Amino acid sequence: MTYVVLEGPDGCGKSSQAVALAAWLRDQGRGVVHVREPGSTPVGEALRQLLLATSTGELRPITEALLFSAARAELVANVIAPAVQRGDVVVAERCYLSTVVYQSLAVAGGLDVEQILDVTRAAHGAHLPDVIFVLDVDAEVARGRRRTRSADRIEARGDGYHDRVRAGFVRACELEVRARRIDATRSFDDVQADLRAQVAGWTA
Ligand SMILES: Nc1ncnc2c1ncn2[C@@H]1O[C@H](COP(=O)(O)OP(=O)(O)OP(=O)(O)O)[C@@H](O)[C@H]1O
Ligand SMILES: [Mg+2]
Repeated sequence: MTYVVLEGPDGCGKSSQAVALAAWLRDQGRGVVHVREPGSTPVGEALRQLLLATSTGELRPITEALLFSAARAELVANVIAPAVQRGDVVVAERCYLSTVVYQSLAVAGGLDVEQILDVTRAAHGAHLPDVIFVLDVDAEVARGRRRTRSADRIEARGDGYHDRVRAGFVRACELEVRARRIDATRSFDDVQADLRAQVAGWTA
């Protein structure tokens, strides 16, 4: 398994766990490519700015799904597929499961999951994640972890929204065979140890 995703609500710990996991894998002698969605390509970072800026205002779920998927298509083709081809491990923050949650399960009037999966198949081709670790925290804990910084366009949507995002990720874990739910309310070190233990078997 070489394409590993960390998923979950804003503030659950994706970025910090990804940095630690990537460093540990490098210590094991593996080549590691750490990417974030949307982003990690020039067009992806430009779309990230657009998608997260509060000045962008509200967008339709279909518009958001297509823009996130456009960033994803560039990332998969230009960065992830070549890395996997070289034998590197890819550690990615977020993947299409975020699109399933944020543009379908967590929004009234969102897209059908099947519509999102159709676009996802087009964006990924054959290069799908091997495993998606969903860092599950309740909205209260996530809010506490986000406290030190100002909210982006999506984070600013309020408490009820964050509860629906958390429930959406729990539902997504049931729908998606690649997803593994991780209890991320535990200490940082406990969560990291769990991730390493699960990854260790495949990357040796
Ligand atoms: N298990 C943990 N226990 C306590 N604090 C944590 C834990 N995991 C991460 N944190 C802290 O919570 C904050 C948010 O973590 P981080 O930025 O990694 O989350 P994120 O999922 O990447 O958020 P975003 O979706 O907004 O990018 C950071 O200050 C981080 O150090
Ligand atoms: Mg982050």
